Amino acid sequence: MSQVLRIGIAGLGTVGSALLHLLEDNGDEIADKTGRGLSVTAVCARNRNVDRGVDVSGYTWFDDPVGLAESDDVDVLVELIGGDEGPARACVEAALSRGKSVVTANKALLAKHGASLAKLAEANGAGLSYEAAVAGAIPIIKTLREALSGNRVSRIFGIMNGTCNYILTRMEAEKISFADCLADAQRLGYAEADPTFDIGGHDTAHKLAILTSLCFGTEISFDSIYLEGIDKITLADIEAADQLGYRIKLLGVAQQTETGIEQRVHPAMVPKTAAIAGIDGVTNAVAIEADKAGSLMLSGPGAGGAATASAVVGDLADLARGQRVPVFGKPAEGLQPYVRAGMRLHEGGYYLALEIADKPGVLARIATLMAEAEISLQSVVQHREIEQENGKPLRAQPVIIITHETTESAVRAALERIEADDSVLGTPKMIRIEKLS
Ligand code: HSE
Repeated sequence: MSQVLRIGIAGLGTVGSALLHLLEDNGDEIADKTGRGLSVTAVCARNRNVDRGVDVSGYTWFDDPVGLAESDDVDVLVELIGGDEGPARACVEAALSRGKSVVTANKALLAKHGASLAKLAEANGAGLSYEAAVAGAIPIIKTLREALSGNRVSRIFGIMNGTCNYILTRMEAEKISFADCLADAQRLGYAEADPTFDIGGHDTAHKLAILTSLCFGTEISFDSIYLEGIDKITLADIEAADQLGYRIKLLGVAQQTETGIEQRVHPAMVPKTAAIAGIDGVTNAVAIEADKAGSLMLSGPGAGGAATASAVVGDLADLARGQRVPVFGKPAEGLQPYVRAGMRLHEGGYYLALEIADKPGVLARIATLMAEAEISLQSVVQHREIEQENGKPLRAQPVIIITHETTESAVRAALERIEADDSVLGTPKMIRIEKLS
């Protein structure tokens, strides 16, 4: 083992540049804590001539990340390229197969290949660390993998995409359009290169897939996640939620049920009184329900260069101290097959927003259709008129229905019949209400 831990960084975007800054700013303090210096020896990026606000001329430059991973001057590869295939996967595999540890922020790579990469790492005596891949600066991986080893987790849920939470928070607070909020999130460096990954829920789903494996000891199953993004959430939904005592958040949820593990990402109404409802802006939060530890919630910055670089350095410090634990908290060969609980079996309350013709008997007919699906209604609010035409209200009336706890299949069956009714205009909107104490 060399005196200093020699680091090769593949990818010098927002996080890579922030990592160089962090090591420059706090390098002495980190060496003091770990008893060993962290020294960047080599870097790799697509373009050498970009002003990153940091001098990279002192590091060996590689155009090819696999060459960087294989370099004799690199003990640990930090992979910050992103993407679930291509150069990111190639350099991670090159490092692990040579017994070199890898630190990565790449949730997409882990969500797709986590189990096989964990096996490769363990077979070659290398570490694979990924605190930065989920919820930025929040130490959720360490918490689940190490601190909560003595627990059975029943549910994990969280706000794990800063861009979505920033958009929903600003829409609510400032009544700003979805598009303007998204443009600001991109300008501030929160959003992914392709922001549809954020707003479509894929980014949250990648993170959830990793947490599910850690919580339940199962193989990662990204494709089993039920997925809905926030792109259809309107200011009207946010205002209706507010009036009913809820806020709308994009949640990633994994929970143990009688039939298997439910994994879902969707906008959810959360009571304003719940702790997670108070998580605003780019902040992330992850809540865990465990049999011995009880209910915990960790919150903090979930995106941005410095916050993510902080998590990378936490992993590097562990490696510098010689600490290594199994990638998913137990030997990779022992991960159990994932058993999916179908979304139609999901149980909870529902918010339904309908536009109905303003004529006698329509509400009664809708209530009957709900009753025939064995859905009990908690409240029905016939809302103020929201659309005007030539200064006159349209004959359509928005109606908001909140159901008692029921099943997804009952709600879908009822909505199918409601949508087919002549008095219902357009497609009804459905938002799940998350059961929180
Ligand atoms: N685009 C992500 C977010 C960044 O908005 O949270 C970290 O994954």
